[in-house]
This record gives sequence, C-alpha cells and structure tokens, in this order.
Amino acid sequence: MNARLTLMIITILFALNIVVIGLGNAANDTKIWLTATGDLRGEIKPCGCSPDGDMGGLLRRATYLDKVRATQASVLYVDLGNNFPEPSEQGHLKTEVIQQAFKKLQPQVILLGPNELRYGIATLDQALPYLVTNVSVDWSIQKTHQTSLSDQRIVIWGYLSPTQIYQNKNEAPVVLPVGEELLLQWKEQLQTESADYTILLFRGNEEELARFEKAEIFDLILTGSNNDDELNQVLEMKTSTNVFPAIPTKGQGALEGVLEKGSQTTQLEVEWLLDRYEDHPSLKQSFKDYDEAVKALFFSNLDRMEKHQQDSPYAGNETCKTCHIQQHQIWSDSRHSHAFDTLKKEDKHFDLECLQCHVVGLNQQGFLSPELTSNLMNVQCENCHGPSKTHASNPAQVKPANLAPQEACASCHKGSHSPLFQYSNYWPKIRH
Ligand code: HEC
Ligand code: HEC
Ligand code: HEC
Ligand code: HEC
Repeated sequence: MNARLTLMIITILFALNIVVIGLGNAANDTKIWLTATGDLRGEIKPCGCSPDGDMGGLLRRATYLDKVRATQASVLYVDLGNNFPEPSEQGHLKTEVIQQAFKKLQPQVILLGPNELRYGIATLDQALPYLVTNVSVDWSIQKTHQTSLSDQRIVIWGYLSPTQIYQNKNEAPVVLPVGEELLLQWKEQLQTESADYTILLFRGNEEELARFEKAEIFDLILTGSNNDDELNQVLEMKTSTNVFPAIPTKGQGALEGVLEKGSQTTQLEVEWLLDRYEDHPSLKQSFKDYDEAVKALFFSNLDRMEKHQQDSPYAGNETCKTCHIQQHQIWSDSRHSHAFDTLKKEDKHFDLECLQCHVVGLNQQGFLSPELTSNLMNVQCENCHGPSKTHASNPAQVKPANLAPQEACASCHKGSHSPLFQYSNYWPKIRH
C-alpha cells in the first residue's frame, strides 16, 4: 500500500471516529426514549387463531421492553390505560394477571381508563402508578407525576374525558371536563413545576384534544385509542390543525421514538409485537395461575348451568347425519369438526372466552363440558343453521332455525381471529 493512501485511510478513520464519538456523547446526554402502550382491553395474550392476527400480549411486551431498556440509556415508558376488559367474572381474573404483569413491566405511569373505573377504584393495585389529573376528589391515585431522566425534569399529567365514563348527573362531577377554568388552573400550576418536558396522557374526543392543543401547555400530547377494530388500527387523532399520535388498540403494538422538545406531536413509530418477541419467562407463572383460575371458574359455572341444560334446542351432528349423510361427510373432513381438539391441544378447552367460537351454543343451552355434552363439541351444523332439534324430529313441518347460514360466519370469523376471512374464499372450502 502506498504511503499517501494509508495516510488518507487513517485520516478518514480518525475523522469518522471523532464524528462518531461526538454524536454518541451528545445523543447519550439528552436523548430520552419514549415507549407508550395501552388499551389492552383484556387482550392479555394473542388467541393464536390465525398467524395473520397474531400480535400483542403482555408476555411479548415484557420481552420488548427488556430489549428497549438494554439498548437505550434513558427510557420513559408510559401506559395510556383502559387495559381491563369489560366487567365479568373472567374479567376479574384478567385484572389480576394484568396488574401482576404491570409490576414487571414497570411503566412510569398508567393513565386511569374507563374500563378500570368500571371495576372500581378498590380493584386497582396500590403498588401501580395509576394517574389521573382532572378529578375533584382524592382517589388515592396520583394526580401528577414527576421524574428525572438524562438530567431532564419530566412532568406527566393525565386527562380522562368525563364523556367516556358514568357520572351521576344529580351530583357535582368528580371527573372534570376540560374548560377555560381547568386550563387556566393547569397552566398556572405547570408554570411552578419548572419542567424540561411536560407530557399529557390524553383520553377523550377531538374537541377536547383541540382545547389542550390551543392552550399550548404541554410539550407532547399522547392519546389513547378510541378504536375497537384491531384489523384497522387508527394510530392518530386529528384536530383541525394537527395530527397527534395515538397508541395501537388491544395492545398489539407499542408507540416508540425519541422524545422531542417543544413538539406536541413528536413523530413516533409503531413496533408491532409479533411472534419474534418470545414470551417473557418472568410472566409465565402468572399466566399459568390465570389458566388454573379460569378452569376453576369453568367448573363452578357448570353446576349452575346444568339446570338450564334440560331443554336444549340443539341436537348435535350425529342426529343430522341420519338424514344428511353427504353434508355430514363434507363437514367431517373440514376443520370445523376438529375445533374443540384444537383448543385441547393448547390446554384452553376450559376457557369460556375461547369455547364460544369452538363449540355449539355456549351460554345458549348448548355446550357445557365434554362429559355432559359430548354431542356439542366443535363447530357444527347448528352453529350455522341454528338450533335444529325440532327440525330433526319433524323435518316435514319444521325448518332449521337459521335459513341464512351465510351470515353466521362473521360471528366467529372476525377481527384477529380470522383476518383473511372472505366468504367467497372460505365457503368453497366447506361447500356442501
Ligand atoms: C370470535 C371467535 C373466536 C374466539 C373467541 C376464539 N377463536 Fe380460535 N379460531 C376462530 C376462527 C374463526 C378460527 C379459524 C381462523 C381461520 O383459519 O381463518 C380459529 C382458529 C383457532 C386455532 C387454529 C389455528 C391454526 O392455524 O391451526 C387455534 C389454535 C385457536 N383458534 C385457539 C383459540 C384460543 C386459545 C382461543 C381463546 C384464547 C380462541 N381460539 C378463541 C375463532 C375464535
Ligand atoms: C329425519 C331426517 C332429518 C334429520 C334428522 C335432519 N334433517 Fe334437515 N332436512 C330433512 C329434510 C327431509 C329436509 C328437506 C325439507 C324441505 O325441503 O322442506 C331437510 C332440510 C334441511 C336443510 C335445508 C333447509 C332449507 O330450507 O334450505 C337444512 C339446512 C337442514 N335440513 C339441516 C339439518 C340439521 C342441522 C340437522 C340436525 C340438527 C338436520 N337437518 C336433521 C330431514 C332431516
Ligand atoms: C361458531 C364459530 C364459527 C362459525 C359460525 C363459522 N366458523 Fe369457520 N371456523 C371456526 C373455527 C374455530 C375454525 C378453526 C377450526 C380449527 O382449525 O380447529 C374455523 C375454520 C374454518 C375454515 C378453515 C380455514 C382454512 O384455512 O382451512 C373455513 C374454510 C371456514 N371456517 C369457513 C367458514 C364459513 C364459510 C362459515 C360461514 C358459512 C364459517 N366458517 C362459520 C369457527 C366458525
Ligand atoms: C360453517 C357453517 C356451516 C356448517 C358447519 C354447516 N353448514 Fe350446511 N350450509 C351452510 C351454508 C352457508 C349453506 C347454504 C349455502 C347456499 O345456500 O349458498 C348450507 C347448506 C346446507 C344445506 C342445504 C343444501 C342444499 O342443497 O340446499 C343442508 C341440508 C345443510 N347445509 C346441512 C348441513 C349439515 C347436516 C351440517 C352438519 C353436518 C351442516 N350443514 C354444516 C353452512 C354450514
């Protein structure tokens, strides 16, 4: 190698080095990495019904956060709340597994959501950093949150819209709406905080958002999701002047990116929690305990429901077979006829949330358990044709209950359970 070239290479390397080191230092000193999640709505783990809808869940989120924390010096992790499912017995079991998971995930704050409120404040684990600012009473939940990262003082406030919760109209409101008075008060209070960053976790509608935007009291506004359709994620919330980042719904992904000073609408990207994120080992026991509790709930309900079972309107496929041999043969060869076994392989055949689409007539005087109703396992004729016991015993007089079976598909082939479903593609596979 000639001397000039060597010198050039050394010079270039040297220059590069300086640049790299320089950038590195500057970045490490002030850069704050933001990750935001929320709106789990009880989807604690993907169901596994379809590879195309296989996203999200708390087990993967824990692995994702480990990775973020291993690669970023300063991580601010916030959650927009609304993580609990609709209230139900099984829902209560989920609130436990969700809150156990959050203890491991360690968000700096969790905005109190409408679903959390429906279970009541007493359900909330005191060890978790729930937050809501616009309340007029003391709920023993923090109203504001301060933290320091990379020598920056960050102040986080949370707004929960009164339009999304129930309040007794005859009493003074506990959760306050955004209005001139509230904004003035917040502005004054925030000025005394001497914060480097002010962040608002927001759950509400566009008009409310526009008021916060106009008031210009927050450096960044992050919005919860108002969308229930996991196949059509809406990752933004618009006012007439700006587009604000909204988190993915049903916990399918996390919003992430570098926090920017003075931008209410920092550019954040979505990281979808696909199956390349493994289930975090530290949460597996909680999920096992949950499955056990779900199983116990299944058997406790069984005693109660057995009484309702006497006049079941369902006959089961063996009865239909006696007259509809050809249809029965085609059905036997389809995946519908194995739908219960599919759950059994996953050890989820005691989970009512799964059974509803994998057996006949759950909660409608149909399937109770493999022992009590072995004739009603799997997806069968009567899932589509309706309960038809009376037809089977008197076909000349009585038609099957549902004469529009095409419309039944969507009750199960929906959302992440069957993202690719199209009647024109699916029907030919089971035509009979
Ligand atoms: C809303 C109805 C619905 C619910 C609830 C549901 N499933 Fe499914 N499941 C389906 C449908 C529909 C398919 C077939 C999807 C397809 O092929 O398009 C399926 C398929 C599956 C498969 C087969 C996947 C494969 O490719 O072999 C598994 C496993 C499964 N579900 C497990 C579960 C579990 C576990 C639960 C509960 C956590 C559950 N399902 C809840 C509707 C449902
Ligand atoms: C004893 C014989 C018999 C049994 C058992 C029987 N069917 Fe039928 N089924 C018939 C006959 C006969 C017809 C034709 C009736 C007609 O055309 O009016 C029929 C018609 C039907 C039709 C077409 C209805 C229409 O108007 O398009 C469906 C769907 C059907 N049966 C479903 C079932 C199902 C599901 C079961 C089991 C729960 C079942 N059948 C059990 C005899 C039977
Ligand atoms: C009660 C719930 C339910 C209803 C109603 C239902 N399905 Fe399914 N379907 C399932 C489940 C669950 C599976 C997966 C079974 C398995 O693999 O264990 C499935 C699987 C299928 C598959 C196999 C998918 C594949 O890629 O091989 C086809 C096709 C299908 N369904 C078509 C239909 C059509 C068409 C309708 C309406 C006429 C319908 N289903 C109604 C629950 C349902
Ligand atoms: C996944 C839903 C589904 C299941 C399961 C299913 N069917 Fe059907 N079946 C349909 C649909 C949809 C049609 C009507 C198709 C049309 O009219 O285009 C149909 C049509 C029929 C017809 C009328 C056929 C004709 O020639 O007019 C009979 C009879 C019938 N099914 C019996 C059965 C029996 C018996 C079983 C169980 C062994 C069964 N089906 C299972 C969805 C289903």
